[in-house]
Amino acid sequence: MPRTSHFRTTLSSKVAVALSGLGLAGFVVFHMLGNLQVLEGPGAYNGYAAFLREMPMVLWTARFGLLTVAVVHIALAIQLALRNRRARPVAYAVRDYRVASVASRTMALTGSLLLLFIVFHLLHLSAGLVDSSFHDHMDERGRADVFGKVIHAFHNPLYVLLYCAGQLVLGMHLSHAVSGSLQTLGFEHAALNRVFKAAGPAVALFVVLGNLVIILAVFLGLVRT
Ligand code: HEM
Repeated sequence: MPRTSHFRTTLSSKVAVALSGLGLAGFVVFHMLGNLQVLEGPGAYNGYAAFLREMPMVLWTARFGLLTVAVVHIALAIQLALRNRRARPVAYAVRDYRVASVASRTMALTGSLLLLFIVFHLLHLSAGLVDSSFHDHMDERGRADVFGKVIHAFHNPLYVLLYCAGQLVLGMHLSHAVSGSLQTLGFEHAALNRVFKAAGPAVALFVVLGNLVIILAVFLGLVRT
């Protein structure tokens, strides 16, 4: 491929990875905020889940959109990583790690581990295939008992450990991903560069702390049932 068209393809792939990544980060923020309602008890949380299920067209369109964005993000990110490796067949003799953070150097690793966590999470809490004990359970108002499912899950130390490990990987991936995406999309301003750089770690901290509050509040028995 001529150099200019190779450069253009790589740039458009990078922009697509950045935009899809920001979309997925947005989902993770809203998912965490929605899940925080578990702290208010079964009424609020099952009501929230029932509200989403009452609009099947909207729900399935959102699910399909999320899946498409995730597939695009993963496929292009793998393609870019392979292309980078091919463009640099001989590994650097001495790696210069002064500029790159740990999070930026481990994007492929944290991305792969995050994908494993998400597959596990869907089989566990969404499909009920890992633990089906509360999957078809209804609350006293006849709504799906998603609250019971989450409480049951995080009373088990093994799931608490797995979900906390998932948060570590999510936090590392997000902390570089958000700032890196803003940079790829050309967010560049002398006065604001520190803000763009801090955006990733800030979003990562917000999401991870919110999720850890949910997991640990349930585990420690602090949630009203
Ligand atoms: C403490 C952390 C979390 C809790 C308590 C939680 C809870 C849940 C529950 C209960 C469901 C099933 C909803 C239902 O059956 O109606 C679900 C679905 C889902 N979760 Fe999570 N989640 C957490 C973290 C995450 C994270 C970190 C991600 C992504 C990185 C994620 C991605 C998803 C996705 C993609 C779905 C499927 C959505 C759908 O089917 O509409 N979750 N989550």
